[in-house]
Amino acid sequence: MKPMQVGLIGAGVVATGVAKVLERNQNEIMRRAGRGIQVTHVGARNLDKARSTLGIAADYSSQLEAVATHPDVDIVVELIGGTTLAKDLVLKAIAAGKHVVTANKALLAVHGTEIFAAARDKGVMVAFEAAVAGGIPIIKALREGLTANRIEWIAGIINGTTNFILSEMRAKGLDFGVVLKEAQRLGYAETDPTFDIEGVDAAHKLTIMSAIAFGTPVQFDRAHIEGITKLQATDIKYAEQLGYRIKLLGITRRRDHGIELRVHPTLIPAKRLIANVEGAMNAVVVQADAVGTTLYYGKGAGSEPTASAVVADLVDITRLHTADPDHRVPHLAFQPDAMSDAPI
Ligand code: HSE
Repeated sequence: MKPMQVGLIGAGVVATGVAKVLERNQNEIMRRAGRGIQVTHVGARNLDKARSTLGIAADYSSQLEAVATHPDVDIVVELIGGTTLAKDLVLKAIAAGKHVVTANKALLAVHGTEIFAAARDKGVMVAFEAAVAGGIPIIKALREGLTANRIEWIAGIINGTTNFILSEMRAKGLDFGVVLKEAQRLGYAETDPTFDIEGVDAAHKLTIMSAIAFGTPVQFDRAHIEGITKLQATDIKYAEQLGYRIKLLGITRRRDHGIELRVHPTLIPAKRLIANVEGAMNAVVVQADAVGTTLYYGKGAGSEPTASAVVADLVDITRLHTADPDHRVPHLAFQPDAMSDAPI
């Protein structure tokens, strides 16, 4: 059978990881997906740079829209970030009947309702495992592994940059600004690090998890968001003396009147597992009625960890797309606003 043809939009760190993982693990991927998956088209502004960083033979174009709507492309992978051009391209890809894989949490948190509705109308899939907690398969855990449960709450360290900053401030007594520069140098931070340090990036990811867990629409504008910029090394030191660690947590919880959605620095007893998640790692705790508490830990950012999630979505879509339509798992039934419209 002809491979599924992928149009990759973006040629940065994650796109490079996607190209590498697809190439290195092609035999496993072929077996699991039921057919090959091949990047046949690449959309990038700087074509020479894209060719040399991705290192794959494909049809390269600086016309991003042409890639997003190309008749030969089955799945569009959006990895350019941002909410303006990315939204336009994703909606055009959907309108052209393409399935979409995206790592873009801001896009889904802000425009998810519109994008999921467009996908539902068109009967295509939008998959976004990489948008939340990078390589940790938390979306699949919520949708599949925990699907028998009523989820009660989720609490997570879902921004690696701020966890790295807090860890370094604690371990080395360094000031916030010094560690932020190091996080930027290491490539953890967003292009605009304000999103990391003000809690916005974590709130984007929390909003998406909350929508999946509780079947509500994506309601980023209803979240309470507080970052870590006001924390000083002394706050962290005093917390430690009292037996606590300070972590930036995203918390979403089912309440009688709706869903709670908040991101803020939180004191956690030092003996708890999640208090000991250090550096740029992510961890998500889910409390659910049947299974009890489960904890998911791993790399929340980086080239191949994020690519791991993108390629998993490519495999999923390929499997579903290729299956007999009468017996296909109704993936669309698991999209965020498909179950209820409970307010926060
Ligand atoms: N800036 C994000 C973080 C990258 O630090 O977690 C992954 O979403």
